[in-house]
Amino acid sequence: MKLYMETFGCQMNELDSQLVLGQFRALGYQSIDNRDDADVILFNTCSVREHAEQKVWSRLGQLRDRKKTRPGQIIAVIGCMAERDGAALFQRYPHVDVLCGPGELDKLTALVHNAIIANANYHGGKRTRQVALIGSTARRSGTHDAAEDKLELLDLSRSIGPADDLSQAYVRITRGCNKFCTYCVVPFTRGPEVHRPPQNIIDEVKRLADAGVREVTLLGQTINHYAFQNPDGHATTFAQLLYQVHEATPHLPRLRFVTSFPRDYSDDALAVMRDCPRICHYLHIPAQSGSDRILKLMNRGYTSAQYYDLIDRARDYMPDISLASDFIVGFPTETDEDYDLTAAMVRRCRFKNSFIFKYSPRPGTAASKHLPDDVPDPDKRRRNNDLLAIQHQVSLAENRGMIGKTVQVIVEGQSKLLARPPAAPAQVELLWEEHTCGNPAIAVDKVQLVGRTRGDQVVVFDGPPGLRGQLLDVRIVDAQSMTLFANLL
Ligand code: SAH
Ligand code: SF4
Ligand code: F3S
Repeated sequence: MKLYMETFGCQMNELDSQLVLGQFRALGYQSIDNRDDADVILFNTCSVREHAEQKVWSRLGQLRDRKKTRPGQIIAVIGCMAERDGAALFQRYPHVDVLCGPGELDKLTALVHNAIIANANYHGGKRTRQVALIGSTARRSGTHDAAEDKLELLDLSRSIGPADDLSQAYVRITRGCNKFCTYCVVPFTRGPEVHRPPQNIIDEVKRLADAGVREVTLLGQTINHYAFQNPDGHATTFAQLLYQVHEATPHLPRLRFVTSFPRDYSDDALAVMRDCPRICHYLHIPAQSGSDRILKLMNRGYTSAQYYDLIDRARDYMPDISLASDFIVGFPTETDEDYDLTAAMVRRCRFKNSFIFKYSPRPGTAASKHLPDDVPDPDKRRRNNDLLAIQHQVSLAENRGMIGKTVQVIVEGQSKLLARPPAAPAQVELLWEEHTCGNPAIAVDKVQLVGRTRGDQVVVFDGPPGLRGQLLDVRIVDAQSMTLFANLL
């Protein structure tokens, strides 16, 4: 059986895709890159903004006619959009066979198997579909039962081999989210927060480090809220977990985590980051807005003053820390004055980068029910572009400050131009010609490599091929807002 999978959305989805693919592989499925040749097509989807959903709608639209000529091909929509849209998706796209929410992925292989059998036995009439969703009201097991949680088995089933990318891997520490920010679908699609048992997390990171993985990123929607209630009654906090993972994996060169929530950030966690040499000095702490009035409407639970205090504390603990943020512009009722406070925040906090989004009302969320989407699109677009330009200036200044410094990078591969797959032979030939001036006697001994610093900056430099996954020291010689340029030492 040939399986094609396309993944949209955040790192949680990337990890889910990897785990799901592992399960299918164990059953003998072969993962392929060409959708047309696939027996099973999986779209792992995101619902966070309408734009993310549109991409999947267009894929499903393209497949509508193909299904008529290839009825045996299974189309599965999994992830957050499956959960949010639910069975309504079948009405719009009757050619979809399987729906599986992110909270039910342990059942996916069985659903696909059932769909294959149902398709083989289909001779007209009503088609059966395979569905597994948590539903908006069902609550999965809480902290105490997390070890029994079926989903836990999905994470624990993970396998890694020499053919896998060893430069970095994700490990989930928390599932779901309890915050209910008024604009956000995630608590509805991923369900309530469940913290994984510390020992399972430590074991998983250890296994990855043993296999040669160079960098592990721990994942959680509000990762600093991690708190596991152990059976003996004592709680493991985020700071303790971070320390324990670091101590248990001396052979892991780098450990990082996302995403931090600006409230309840204990000094303990900052101290662990400062004191454990292999934990990266990098925080992704989405602020969303610089206006207290808007933060309140978003139900974020902190003020801009509290956010500034956290940034100052983080820099006190780690003067070299690299910070990233997310912002939403054009949230309902946002005025130019509110927006100016956001712009001031980007200038003052000197983020390495910010992810900037125009507000997109999501059905079912509190904001979409109670707050009309009243900021006109041209205003949203103007604020979006303006904030991007400000962040661009800040990033450029921050990156220019790196020139002359020596930094450690993990090589992620060759830079795009040269790393392109050999799908277009003419292109490869052209690149080879450029490198060798067309002389077959000259071997390609240098390629353009891309690496990432401990602060999550992208560095481009020339070096020999085959260094993927290596830790190297490079000296920064030039900088753009998104990229540092370096010489290999
Ligand atoms: N758990 C993370 C964010 C997850 S969603 C946190 O709380 O920080 C990733 C980002 O998408 C958010 O930080 C937010 O900036 C953006 N986002 C979420 N819902 C959105 C919406 N309805 N419209 C526009 N952007 C949104
Ligand atoms: Fe969404 Fe807020 Fe949870 Fe982040 S913290 S996932 S923005 S509800
Ligand atoms: Fe999207 Fe779901 Fe992640 S909505 S951002 S894939 S948690």
